Amino acid sequence: MADKSSVSKLFDLSNKVAIVTGSGRGLGETMAHGLAAAGASVMICAQTQANVERVAAEISKNGGNAAWTIVDIRNRANCQRLIDETVAKFGRVDVMVNNAGIDIIGPAEDVTDEAWDQVISINLKGYFLCSQIAARQMFAQRSGGSIINISSICSVIGVRGLTSYSAAKGGVNQLTRVMAVEWAERGIRVNAIAPGYFENVMQGATDEHARSEKQKHVIAFTPMARRGRPEELIGPVLFLASNASSYVTGEVLFVDGGYTAQ
Ligand SMILES: NC(=O)c1ccc[n+]([C@@H]2O[C@H](COP(=O)([O-])OP(=O)(O)OC[C@H]3O[C@@H](n4cnc5c(N)ncnc54)[C@H](O)[C@@H]3O)[C@@H](O)[C@H]2O)c1
Repeated sequence: MADKSSVSKLFDLSNKVAIVTGSGRGLGETMAHGLAAAGASVMICAQTQANVERVAAEISKNGGNAAWTIVDIRNRANCQRLIDETVAKFGRVDVMVNNAGIDIIGPAEDVTDEAWDQVISINLKGYFLCSQIAARQMFAQRSGGSIINISSICSVIGVRGLTSYSAAKGGVNQLTRVMAVEWAERGIRVNAIAPGYFENVMQGATDEHARSEKQKHVIAFTPMARRGRPEELIGPVLFLASNASSYVTGEVLFVDGGYTAQ
């Protein structure tokens, strides 16, 4: 039966430990703040030291618990060190948010091998590595866990100029489903969040999004007629990280103002 106290505890992450990759800025930064406010200890990690230090300090200033490290998610040894440092600092890993990503925009006929490899190695292989290594840690803890992959509407629709990015995001959806199926019996849930167009524009996409035609397109084709605010990802990530979604796995949750509903 549901009562007020059990319902308010549904989203509580006290005594949980979360990692958010790419949390030195943008959507990852906002989700890390949300997870910390719900009670989780959070490992802030990305590639720029000044950013991760700043975010961890802000969380601590707000009364939360955070640590920071530098990671390149393309590299297995780096991902292993990320998990090991988190365990050394906080004792465990309960929530792994794979968020770090890059965007390289250009026509399909011009994509170079280097650009393709760079996008796939971060946006797809990096998610695989962090998920696999985090899951091994969760298996050892024997108390389950939640892995959340930040996908995109580009995982299911074609957007001009995003060949490798979209291929990676489609792969992320499938990675999510296979890992969800394989790890369900061991209590690890694996889900994805697929954002639409947000106010935070990814590094690498600023020129494209500065075009007035692009902004007009976003508004015209988003039923809610606006970009998402980064803080509008906090509810979805808390839902998937917490017991509020205890019977949800293998799901891709679109947070896109209705973009893919039409
Ligand atoms: N901004 C949007 O509108 C939008 C829409 C759909 C999906 N997304 C997805 O959300 C996620 C976050 O996007 P954002 O807008 O915050 O991007 P952003 O460019 O603002 O931030 C990306 C972060 O990832 C980190 N990063 C990049 N390469 C890395 C690597 N090799 N190792 C570790 N960290 C690395 C960067 O240091 C940075 O902190 C991405 O996966 C992106 O594809 C964003």
